[in-house]
Amino acid sequence: MPGTCVIGLQWGDEAKGKIVDLLTAGRRYVVRYQGGANAGHTVVVGKEVYKLSLLPSGVLAPGVTCVITGGVVLNPAKVLEEIDELLARDIRLDGDRLKISDRTHVILPWHFAEDRVLDTSTGGESIGTTQRGIGPCYRDKVARSYAIRLGDMYRPDFKERIARITEAKNRVLAAMTNEGEFEPLDAEAIYEQYAEFARRLEPFVADTTEILLTAMEKDEHVLFEGAQGSLLDVDHGTYPYVTSSNSSGVGVANGSGVPGCHIEKVLGVVKAYSTRVGGGPFPTEQDNEKGQYLRDRGNEYGTVTKRPRRCGWLDVVAVRYAARLGGVDGLCLMLLDVLSGLDEIQICTAYEIDGRRTNVFPSHVEDLRRVKPIYESVPGWSEEIDQVQSYSDLPAAAHAYLDRIAELVGCPVDVVSVGPGREQTIVVNESLRKPALA
Ligand code: GDP
Ligand code: IMO
Ligand code: MG
Repeated sequence: MPGTCVIGLQWGDEAKGKIVDLLTAGRRYVVRYQGGANAGHTVVVGKEVYKLSLLPSGVLAPGVTCVITGGVVLNPAKVLEEIDELLARDIRLDGDRLKISDRTHVILPWHFAEDRVLDTSTGGESIGTTQRGIGPCYRDKVARSYAIRLGDMYRPDFKERIARITEAKNRVLAAMTNEGEFEPLDAEAIYEQYAEFARRLEPFVADTTEILLTAMEKDEHVLFEGAQGSLLDVDHGTYPYVTSSNSSGVGVANGSGVPGCHIEKVLGVVKAYSTRVGGGPFPTEQDNEKGQYLRDRGNEYGTVTKRPRRCGWLDVVAVRYAARLGGVDGLCLMLLDVLSGLDEIQICTAYEIDGRRTNVFPSHVEDLRRVKPIYESVPGWSEEIDQVQSYSDLPAAAHAYLDRIAELVGCPVDVVSVGPGREQTIVVNESLRKPALA
C-alpha cells in the first residue's frame, strides 16, 4: 500500500504545500486530485517562494512526476502560466514530468461570469468564492450537457461544441443579470483561444487513472495532495459555505481513481490556530486584537485572492471531526511559531448548543452558527521558536499544547512546523522519511 495522502483538516491554507514539498523526496508521483486554481499552496526553499495553484507542490523535486487527475477542474491559462513561470526559474516541465488527465473538466469564460453573478446573489451571507469559476464548472460537470473535458478539446466536434454551449450560456447569463451588465461571449474568439491552449497542453495529456493504478500495482510511492480543507468539503463541510469538490479525505478515491485500499498513511495538516477565508460560520473566530495578533504574525492574507483571513483559536471539535472523516493517522501541526508571545492559548474542546454540551460537529450550518465554543486555557510561551530544530528544544508549554491536541484529536503529532522554510520543520515520526531512503 504505497499511497500517502496530505489533507487539510480546517478551512484551507493549513500549509499543505509545505508538507507535500517536504514529503516528495523518494516518491514516484505527486498528485492533485480535486479543486482547481482556487487553491494557493506555498513552498519556500531558501529565499525562493513558489505559489502553486494547479501544479502539485512536488514539482520542485527533480525526478518526480506531477499528476493532475480527472477530479480537478482545469483552468488552462493558469496551468500554462504556472508552467511558464517555473521555466523562467529553470524548472522545465515536459510530458514526462507532468501528466494531466484527459478527464479534467475545463474552466471556460462563462464559468467566471457565472461565479461572479451567483456568489453575489445567494440571498444570505455571500459564500465569498475565489471567483475562479470553480462552482459553475463542477456544476456543469455533474449536469453534463454543457461540460467540456480536456479530452474533448482534441475531438473534431470541439468547435461546434463551443458554439452550442456559448449560445446557451449567453442566454442563461443574460437572464441572470440586469440589462447591460453582461457582455455576450464570442464563440469564435473562445474557440481560437482554447484551441491554442489545447495545442500547448497536448504533450501533457494522459490517462492518469491508468498510470496511477499501474503505479500502485507496482508498489511505487505516490503522494496525494489535497486542496482546500476538510471543512470546505461539498458533502461533509459547512455547506453551503464550502467549495464544490470533496476536499476532505473522502475525495482521494473519487478524484484520482485510486481506491482507498492503496492508501497506507493519511496525514492531516492543522494550523496551530484556525483561519477561514470567505463567508460561513467560524465558532472560534477572534474578531479582535487576538485575531489581529495571529493575522500579523502568521501573515494571514490569502495566497490566491490576498483577502485578510479570519483568525481564531484552534477548534478541536472541528479538527477531530475532520480527522475521523479522513481516516487520519498522523497530524502535521503547522505555524506553531505564530503563537509565541501569548500569555495563554485557548483550545475549543467542546460546543454548547441550546444549553447542552457536545463534541459532535453539527451537520447543519445554522446549528454551527449557534454554538458557543467551550474553551480550555493552556499557558503560552514567550520565546520565539522559529530556529528550534528538535522537539526536545521546544518550550515546555509548547510540548504541553501539542500533547493536549494529540490527546483531544486522538492522533499523534508526526510533524511540527515552526516557520515557512524547509529547515523549520521538526519531523517527530521518522518513518515518514522512509520513502526517501528507498
Ligand atoms: P496551503 O494552501 O495549505 O498550502 O497553505 P498556504 O500556502 O495558502 O498558506 C500557508 C502559509 O503559511 C504560507 O505562506 C506558508 O509559507 C506559511 N507557512 C507554512 N508553514 C509555516 C510555519 O510553520 N510558520 C509560519 N510562520 N508560516 C508557515
Ligand atoms: P487551499 O488549497 C482557503 C474558500 C473560498 C470560499 C469557498 C468557496 O489554498 O487551502 P470556491 O472558489 O472554491 O468556490 O470558494 O472556499 N476556498 C479556500 N479557502 N484555502 C483554499 O485553498 C480555498 N479554496 C477555496 O474562500 O470561502
Ligand atoms: Mg492556500
